[in-house]
Amino acid sequence: MPTFDKIYQFNFPTTIRFGVDAVKELPDYLAKNNLTRPLIVTDKTVASLPFFRKIVDDLKASKISVEVFSDIHKNPVKSDVYKGTDAYDASKRNSIVGIGGGAALDVARAIVLRANHREDLFKYDDLIGGDVFVTNEVPPFVTIPTTSGTGSEVGRSAIIADDETHQKKILFSPKLLARIVFADPMLTMDLPPAVTAAVGMDALTHNMEAYIAKMPHPICEGIALEGMSLISKSLERAVNKPDVESRANMLVASMMGAIAFQKGLGVVHSLAHPLSSLLDTHHGLANAVNIPYGMGFNISGFEEKFRRIARTLDLKNETGDGVVDYLFDLNSRIGIPHKLRDIGVKKEHIETLSDLAFADFAHPNNPKPVSREDFKQLYSKAL
Ligand SMILES: NC(=O)c1ccc[n+]([C@@H]2O[C@H](COP(=O)([O-])OP(=O)(O)OC[C@H]3O[C@@H](n4cnc5c(N)ncnc54)[C@H](O)[C@@H]3O)[C@@H](O)[C@H]2O)c1
Ligand SMILES: [Fe+2]
Repeated sequence: MPTFDKIYQFNFPTTIRFGVDAVKELPDYLAKNNLTRPLIVTDKTVASLPFFRKIVDDLKASKISVEVFSDIHKNPVKSDVYKGTDAYDASKRNSIVGIGGGAALDVARAIVLRANHREDLFKYDDLIGGDVFVTNEVPPFVTIPTTSGTGSEVGRSAIIADDETHQKKILFSPKLLARIVFADPMLTMDLPPAVTAAVGMDALTHNMEAYIAKMPHPICEGIALEGMSLISKSLERAVNKPDVESRANMLVASMMGAIAFQKGLGVVHSLAHPLSSLLDTHHGLANAVNIPYGMGFNISGFEEKFRRIARTLDLKNETGDGVVDYLFDLNSRIGIPHKLRDIGVKKEHIETLSDLAFADFAHPNNPKPVSREDFKQLYSKAL
């Protein structure tokens, strides 16, 4: 155990309504709280799904005025947020409901910020201390996850990229927490296998990186271990033979990952982020391919933590190498390639990727330091 000679802050505040049909509580919640003019923020795919149309119909039946904004990119950019805020203003909304995966929920959260903070959006970038400018009230915010990956529904940050440079910025403030989450596993039942696999590996990466991240936080470490255990029991089934139990386990484990990573992330997310900004790779897929290599890098010096992970995953080989083998094997079982070249990365990308990874915000919390040369070697090994 750490000595706690410094003071750390631990937060676990969000109300989560979790279970089959939880989403049916939305109209009543909005009506009771006088939030009768919500802007619903989603993406175009989700907006076309039957469950989404049912949510909108149920809201209308409860006399809630509905305006839908779904014009967002796969990896969201600043202009998406500006357009969404225009929609919020033009239709005189009084609250925001985000419905979707991490991309839609991040745009929704960024609109929550921008509603009453009209300086350039990236003035609020947390990495340059912009969180101190988040001083005004923000509209009430409700989240409804539909992917089981990022856990953005319980987060307080939004990852938004610059339209031109594609550099990802983090907008952060405790004010950006949802007031309530309606987490309904039925909304994730039809998520296609490849997306289920990629977002599920993002959730696993959050739990695993958070567990070993530098900051001492025993509460998060307990959550992260249980999150990993649920994923090890459920991800393969959720991908290949989905049932409500496996989908529900993935949904709760993805929120556990996001709760746990207030402790920090690490080398794997820094390897993954540049793939999204440079090559538009899905965030979860980028983590999935990189995680065995990133975890392999972290073993030496942290053998005891890896032993705990191996035990949690019920592995025969209770070592870091056992964990790395497990990760490769899990990727195989859920259809994720072992090599970066299979997801479009080329040798000539490695220098730029290494620069971007070294500049990334996640790895300073990695249990051990990561140099630019380390990134280059990890990309080369994974290529
Ligand atoms: N805020 C945070 O803390 C945080 C953390 C990690 C990642 N992120 C961000 O989250 C984003 C990735 O989110 P994601 O992995 O959830 O993917 P996503 O939101 O991009 O969704 C993946 C795909 O699944 C589709 N989809 C969503 N729900 C569906 C459903 N129920 N049925 C069928 N299709 C469905 C979407 O339309 C999309 O095409 C990235 O932009 C990343 O930067 C944010
Ligand atoms: Fe992630």
